[in-house]
Amino acid sequence: MKVLVTGGAGFIGSNFIHFLLAARPRWSVVNYDKLSYAGNLANLASVMKHPRHTFVRGDVCDAVAVSAAMRGCAAVVHFAAESHVDRSIYEPAPVVHTNLTGTFHLLQAARELKVDRFLHVSTDEVYGDLEPSGTAAEDSPLRPSSPYSASKAGSDLLVLSFVRTYALPALITRSSNNYGPYQFPEKFLPLMITNALAGEALPIYGDGRQQRNWLHVEDNCRGILAVLEDGRPGSVYNIGGHDVEDNLAMARRILRLLDKPDALLRHVADRPGHDRRYALDSSKLRTETGWSPQIPLDEGLERTVAWYREHPGWLAQVLDGSYKIYYAKYYENRDAALSAFAGAPERKE
Ligand code: NAD
Ligand code: DAU
Repeated sequence: MKVLVTGGAGFIGSNFIHFLLAARPRWSVVNYDKLSYAGNLANLASVMKHPRHTFVRGDVCDAVAVSAAMRGCAAVVHFAAESHVDRSIYEPAPVVHTNLTGTFHLLQAARELKVDRFLHVSTDEVYGDLEPSGTAAEDSPLRPSSPYSASKAGSDLLVLSFVRTYALPALITRSSNNYGPYQFPEKFLPLMITNALAGEALPIYGDGRQQRNWLHVEDNCRGILAVLEDGRPGSVYNIGGHDVEDNLAMARRILRLLDKPDALLRHVADRPGHDRRYALDSSKLRTETGWSPQIPLDEGLERTVAWYREHPGWLAQVLDGSYKIYYAKYYENRDAALSAFAGAPERKE
């Protein structure tokens, strides 16, 4: 079987390609990726010459190129997106364009080419803020808070409209916060690890008590494959980790693993519209496919920290000039940069 994977040069997409090539020896992958700032062929170094992996550089917003890349593929796994919440707040236009228009072009091509399965990779952020002990199931209301999560919720609805109107055999996964190798260091855990390795301050937004439902990327990849093979077309599946932990506790774990002092923790201005809590109910996926997360948080964090330590070349390459400009603007001059967003309403309990 030939599978089109979009966004395969990013964090989860590249992990999925490594996983799939090993797990399904008769499948081949067409990897379609624009190579945005977050896309990195170094994530795929060991498979760039693999006989079952073909890389195609292209934009999901280019309808003709999308259709050409999809031709002959039986299935599509759609990861490509602008994935960073903070960037979506600072500059929403590319996020809305890629996540909505790009998904639309893929759906159109999938419909015309009559693919057997279309798996859209979405996020727990579409459910928005949860109550202190609440969890979100697949039928919970969609209450996105950021331009990023709103664009993902919108793309989910487009997918479901193609199921209903055109009988497209599409499925949606909504996973919680992934962590693991090859994650771009703008995201919380790799940012904490890279700063701690460099002996620099760890910026904690607000009080640091926001909770996230941590999931090792390998557990997400296994969940996505389970849905691709065994999910019911038209269905949505949550993929959540065992652990719901707050940001401060996660940062402290990283400091302990690297033998660094808590004095490196630095509370900084909060993210506008910051969701306090995400937590998924994944019982549907467990019941229907037998999936469950296999990697405990302690072990996953230890492996992840070790991976970043052992890959200084990869890190040096991604912490390039454009990352440094981004970091200086939103971290070293954070108060000035965020003053433009002052006045976001507080969360309503
Ligand atoms: P990422 O930012 O690391 O990778 C995104 C990839 O998409 C990059 O390789 C980039 O080059 C590519 N891309 C961006 N715009 C494109 C375009 N217009 N055309 C073609 N390619 C384009 O993201 P990630 O963390 O790997 O997330 C992958 C998917 O999983 C996204 O859809 C995201 O919404 C979803 N997701 C992520 C998480 C998480 O914790 N990282 C959790 C839930 C869902
Ligand atoms: O929940 C799934 C989502 O997880 C995915 O859909 C997104 O693509 C992915 O980026 C991630 O979004 P988050 O906003 O949860 O992840 P991020 O790594 O940006 O932040 C995690 C938490 O850490 C969040 O509460 C904000 C906080 N944070 C983040 C950064 C970058 C900090 O306190 N300091 C930071 O410097």
